[in-house]
Amino acid sequence: MKTYITTPIYYVNAQPHLGHAYTTIVADTYSRFRRLCGDKVRFQTGTDEHGDKIVEAAAKQGVAPKEYVDTISAMFSSTWPILEVEPDNFIRTTDPDHIRVVQKILQDVYDSGDIYFDEYTGLYCQGCERYLTEKELVDGKCPDHQKPPEEIAEANYFFRMSRYQQKLIDHIHAHPEFITPERYKNEVLAFLSEPLEDLCISRPKSRLTWGIELPFDDKFVTYVWFDALINYLTGLGYPEGQLFEENWAVAEHLIAKDILKPHAIYWPTMLLAMKVPLYQKLHVHGYWNVDDTKMSKSIGNVVRPKELVDAYGVDTLRYFTLREMSFGLDSSFSSEAIVARQNADLANDLGNLFSRALAMVQKYRSGIIPAPGTYTAADLEVQEAAETMLARYQEVMGQFNFHLGLQAVWEFVGVANRYIVTSEPWTLAKDEGQAKRLDTVLYTILESLRLLTLVLRPVMVGATVKMGAALSLAADDARISLLTQGRVWGLLKAGTQLQTLANLFPRLEKEGKEQKEQKAAPAPQKQEQSNAGSEDDSLISFEDFKKLDLRVAEIVAAEPIKKSDRLLKLTVKAPEERTIVAGIAQHYNAEDVIGRQVIIVANLKPTKLMGVTSQGMVLAAKDIHGDEETLILTSVSGVIPSGSKVA
Ligand code: ME8
Ligand code: MG
Repeated sequence: MKTYITTPIYYVNAQPHLGHAYTTIVADTYSRFRRLCGDKVRFQTGTDEHGDKIVEAAAKQGVAPKEYVDTISAMFSSTWPILEVEPDNFIRTTDPDHIRVVQKILQDVYDSGDIYFDEYTGLYCQGCERYLTEKELVDGKCPDHQKPPEEIAEANYFFRMSRYQQKLIDHIHAHPEFITPERYKNEVLAFLSEPLEDLCISRPKSRLTWGIELPFDDKFVTYVWFDALINYLTGLGYPEGQLFEENWAVAEHLIAKDILKPHAIYWPTMLLAMKVPLYQKLHVHGYWNVDDTKMSKSIGNVVRPKELVDAYGVDTLRYFTLREMSFGLDSSFSSEAIVARQNADLANDLGNLFSRALAMVQKYRSGIIPAPGTYTAADLEVQEAAETMLARYQEVMGQFNFHLGLQAVWEFVGVANRYIVTSEPWTLAKDEGQAKRLDTVLYTILESLRLLTLVLRPVMVGATVKMGAALSLAADDARISLLTQGRVWGLLKAGTQLQTLANLFPRLEKEGKEQKEQKAAPAPQKQEQSNAGSEDDSLISFEDFKKLDLRVAEIVAAEPIKKSDRLLKLTVKAPEERTIVAGIAQHYNAEDVIGRQVIIVANLKPTKLMGVTSQGMVLAAKDIHGDEETLILTSVSGVIPSGSKVA
C-alpha cells in the first residue's frame, strides 16, 4: 500500500508557531504509523511564498521579497528536524518547477474555456487574501481577522468554479470519507447549498508583482490559491511520471479549519477543470487556542515550537499535542497542561512502568529475558488487553483520532502497571518454588513493554528508540512494527540480555510548578518503583506511608457498571462526595454495600475505568484459597464520622 500525505504550505510572512508545528507533527506521526503498517509513504510539506502579505512583511524588514522568503522558508525547514519531523519533500512555491507547472495548468484551464476576463467589485479581506461574501461577515467584519473588508473594483481573470458545483456536491455525497471529521463535510455541503460564485484568480501587476505571471496575460499575476494549491501536484512531478501516478491516486491532505474552503471547494473544482482525479481525503483539525483565542501570527499570541522543545523535550511536545487535541476540535495550550501530561502520563505511568519492570528483570534474572511457563488467567488477561489495544489503535490512528489511540495505549499502560501490583513479582522472588511463575510474570511484563514501544513509535521517536534499545531491539526491528504476521504475543526471545535505560521522562520541576504537580498527582507508583530496586521489597519508609491519605468513607450509592462483571460504581462520602470504581462486583451486590463505612485511599490519582473516573480506591481484604478469591470490604469497629483520617 501507498500513502501520500501533505500539510498546508505555510505562509512565510511569519515564523513557525505551535499551530504549524501541530499539523506537521500530525502528518509525520501519520506517516510513521503508515510505515509501521508496511506502507510506502510520501510526506510533503513546504512554504507558500507569493502574495501581498509577503511583500508587506519583506518591506517591513527592509529586504527584497526573495531574500525575505529564503530566510523564513529556512526557518520552517530547519524547525522540522528539531521536532523529529521528517518530510520526504519540502516544496517552495518559488521553485522554478512549481512556477512552470502552475503556468501550464493556467494555460490548460484557460484553453478549455474555464478562465475568463471580467470586471468585478467585491469585499476583499487582506488577512484571508480573498473576497468575502456578504454572508460571511459578522458585524460587517471578517470573523477571522476582525477587520471590515475593503471594497475593491477591478478587471480580473475568473475561474468558472460555479460550473463544477453540482459535480462537487455529488462527489462529496458519493464519497462519505472525502472530508472528515463529518462536521466539516457538513459545513462544506451547507456552503454548497447556495449558488457558488466564480473565483477571481488574478491580480493586476499594478497592485501586485510578487506572484506567478499569467501565461496568457503578462499584465497579471495569479492569485495565491491558484498558485499554492497546485503545490500538491508539482511536488509529485505532475503531469507525468511514476511518482505522480502512484502518489496522486492516494493523496490525503491535512489542514486546519481556517483553510477549509480553499481545500474543499476551490481545489476539487480546479482538479475537475484540469481533468485530474480528486484527492482521496481531506482531514481537518481545529485550532490551538491561547486563552480561548486562536493562536495566530496576526494576533501575536504565539508559542514557538523550538522554545517548547527546549523546555519540555520533543517527545513530550509530540505526545502532548497529539494526546491533548481531539482531532477536529479546538484545544487550549498552557504550560500547566503540558507539565501535567509530562508528569502524570509520561513520568509516572509510562516511565515508571519501564524503569520498575527493567529493574526487576535486572534484579531477579540478571537482566536476561526469561522463558515464560504456562500462562494463567491473569497473564492471558494482559494478552487480551494488548490485542484489544492494538486493534483499537490501528483503527483510530488510521482515522486521525490520535487522542483516542493514545487513550487506548494508556489504558494498556494501566493494565500493565496493575498487573505488576497484583502479580507481586517481589513476593514470587522470595519463593524458589515460584521461579517459573516469576519467569512468566516477568516475560508478560516485558512483552507489554515491547508492544508499548511499538505503538508509541510514530508519536515519540527518540523515546521509543531508547525503549527498544533497552529491550535489545534495533530501531527498525520488525517486532516493533505492525507486520508481525498476525502474531501479537511472544516475540521477545528468551535468553536475550536487556540493556540499561536512562530515566526516560524526568518529572518536570519548573517554576515552582513541581509542588502543585505533586499535590495533584501523588505518586503511589513511584513508591512501588523505588521498592522494586531496593533491598527489601516488602518494606516502605514511614515517609512513603505518610503520603497515603486513608479515610473512613460511607458508601451512599452503588450501581453495577455496564459491560463489566467485576466493577461497581460507588458514591462515597469522605466527607465530600466522590465516585470510586471498585472491583468487588463478584463479591458484593450493589444494594448490599450501600450504607457501609469502609476505608479508602483518598489521594490516589484519578483513573478511568470502563469510562467512569474513579477518584480513589476502596480497601478490601483478600482471601485466596486455590483458584478462589474472596474479597471482604474493610470497615471500622466503632461509631466515627465519615471523612475521619485513618493513621
Ligand atoms: O493558510 N491551530 O498558510 P498559514 C492549529 N499558505 N493549526 C494552525 C494554527 C492554530 N492556531 N495556526 C496555523 C496558509 N495553523 C496557506 C496554505 S495550502 C495550499 C496554503 C496551521 O501559514 C494549520 O495547518 O496561514 C493551518 O491550516 C495552517 O497552519 C495555515 O498556515
Ligand atoms: Mg493563516
